[in-house]
Amino acid sequence: MVSDFVSLKRSGQNYKALSPFTNEKTPSFYVVPSKGIFKDFSSGKGGDGITFVMEHEGMSYVEALKYLAKKYGVEIKEDERTPEDLAAQGERDSLYIVMTFAKDYYKELLHNHDEGRSIGLSYFRERGFNDRILEKFELGYSLNEWHHLQQAALTRGFSENVLEKSGLIIKKDDKIYDRFRGRVIFPVHNLSGKVVAFGARILTKEKDQPKYINSPETEIYHKSNVLYGMYQAKNEIRKHDFCYLVEGYTDVISLHLSGIENVVASSGTALTEEQIRLMRRFTENVTVLFDGDAAGIKAALRGIDLVLKGGLNVRVVLLPDGEDPDSYSKKMGSTEFQEYLKTNSKDFISFKIDLLSAGASNNPIKRAEAIREIVASIALIPDPIKRSVYIKETGDLLKIQESVLLTELNKILIAEKRKRDQERMREEVAEPLLDVIEEVAQATKTDPQTMVQMQEREVIRLLLNYSDSPVEDDVDLVSYFINEFEELDFFNPLYASIFKMFRDAKLNGELVDSKYLIDNGSEEVKRLVAELTVKKYQASKYWREKYHIIFFDENEKINENAHQNVLRRKYRYIQNLLEENKAKIKEAESSSNSIKVDELILVQHKLKQVDLELATELGVISGKY
Ligand code: CTP
Ligand code: MN
Repeated sequence: MVSDFVSLKRSGQNYKALSPFTNEKTPSFYVVPSKGIFKDFSSGKGGDGITFVMEHEGMSYVEALKYLAKKYGVEIKEDERTPEDLAAQGERDSLYIVMTFAKDYYKELLHNHDEGRSIGLSYFRERGFNDRILEKFELGYSLNEWHHLQQAALTRGFSENVLEKSGLIIKKDDKIYDRFRGRVIFPVHNLSGKVVAFGARILTKEKDQPKYINSPETEIYHKSNVLYGMYQAKNEIRKHDFCYLVEGYTDVISLHLSGIENVVASSGTALTEEQIRLMRRFTENVTVLFDGDAAGIKAALRGIDLVLKGGLNVRVVLLPDGEDPDSYSKKMGSTEFQEYLKTNSKDFISFKIDLLSAGASNNPIKRAEAIREIVASIALIPDPIKRSVYIKETGDLLKIQESVLLTELNKILIAEKRKRDQERMREEVAEPLLDVIEEVAQATKTDPQTMVQMQEREVIRLLLNYSDSPVEDDVDLVSYFINEFEELDFFNPLYASIFKMFRDAKLNGELVDSKYLIDNGSEEVKRLVAELTVKKYQASKYWREKYHIIFFDENEKINENAHQNVLRRKYRYIQNLLEENKAKIKEAESSSNSIKVDELILVQHKLKQVDLELATELGVISGKY
């Protein structure tokens, strides 16, 4: 397994080689066949064959297993997959296949088609791209035609559907056309070297056209998971144990041309967490390499913070103003350029301090701000030991007491912890609670009018269930209510009609009960009676379970219940009147009818007095009951 990647020499029972993980000069990499293990004394890595493939190829455990199984013809039985899984897998496979086809096709056009050679290839030549580089990055060219790739792919038997899903063609309204036209093509490879996307650079100077057109996100291409150049760089990154991070396609290639191959690009966007995790699989050390202009510095600063946050160690190289890796490497030549990168790479602290001394050394306020910014970057580092090392270094360089910096650091860390805690609280506690509150609020939406009607409903419920129960001495519930509610109209016409039936019957000396109402009432009445009489028990059971409220036997307490009910109903009634009166006052005020306003305020005052009396008797003080 190992000899697929490393040329081994026999050494007694074992094999020996130069470490594939470092740049060592004398071999210290051993393979021990009798034990099925390897040990690399140079990097400290060691393990079985699967570990080796994982380490060497930057594969996950599962990827390594699949790779080895395929290589040695071992069948891997996976858990049975659903038809949807299989369909998705099928779709991904066909996307890989069509992307490979397109890549080969674009390459072919670059090298063997007249337009490709005269436009694409000559452009690459002008930039100094040699054959080795063209092949290594599988660069290509797309003809300046609307349907060229589409036709070729359809002829090869690819479906329009797959072509569209791959992003190679665009379907808009009833038009279909190639996405990449008249551009040089930079394929984007995943870790195992399969093409998952393309970037296509314009060659003309058309103003309204973007410099690059890139593949859209597809089933096999998630922009935020991919680093351009990683496939070509991974072994070198591991060997040098660090990696250059640059901005774009041509920067990566320029560095390769200068003999620097441990380089990847974020492709013009801010680095994502996934991209940092991807880098981490190969090294913990990143050197950010950006243009020396203002935009470059800004991008570098942003890059630094993201990489620090990802737990990686960061160094920075700034190029002189107006230079990018491409122009500067050409100007300097390979050796000198490599030397420049080596001598100008700075720890991010020194980098920030230099920026600061360039801009703010004499201005105490700006200086303090800059120091705080440095500490803020340090606060992003997850490892506390590294943090304290950097704090010490900053203190030394800036001649500031470490304790001052530590205080500042702790302030930031505490603030961040608080923020995290708050976020967690909100997610875990407050949001679910708010949902419940919202639900309850919905369930008990209580404008005075509804509350009045609910109370009226309660009057009817008590009448239906306990009409002949004695309330006070010899007074039954119906008489009691008739007496108490003499001057209170019902708002709800249905409740009003039922109450009237009870009252009329009572005054005529007849008996009205739920049975009577069911026999004689309208459909609406019957439904309500059923609801209020049947639900008597259910309701209390439900409330008991849901709200843990203990119910006494209602019959035993009917007099108290009735009394409470009368009070509450009056209270609701007054509340509603107060509300209505308030509206009347507003109306009178807006029409400047001051006599009316005075009158109404007097009414309001009286209502308020009654309200207060009722509230006191009910044990509530304000409107919420
Ligand atoms: N980029 C992009 N779309 C654009 C502009 C830029 O996707 N319209 C991305 C590309 O990945 C590009 C990177 O941002 O490589 C850096 O942009 P730029 O410096 O403008 O392009 P270079 O690749 O450096 O091209 P050149 O050297 O030819 O100027
Ligand atoms: Mn550039």
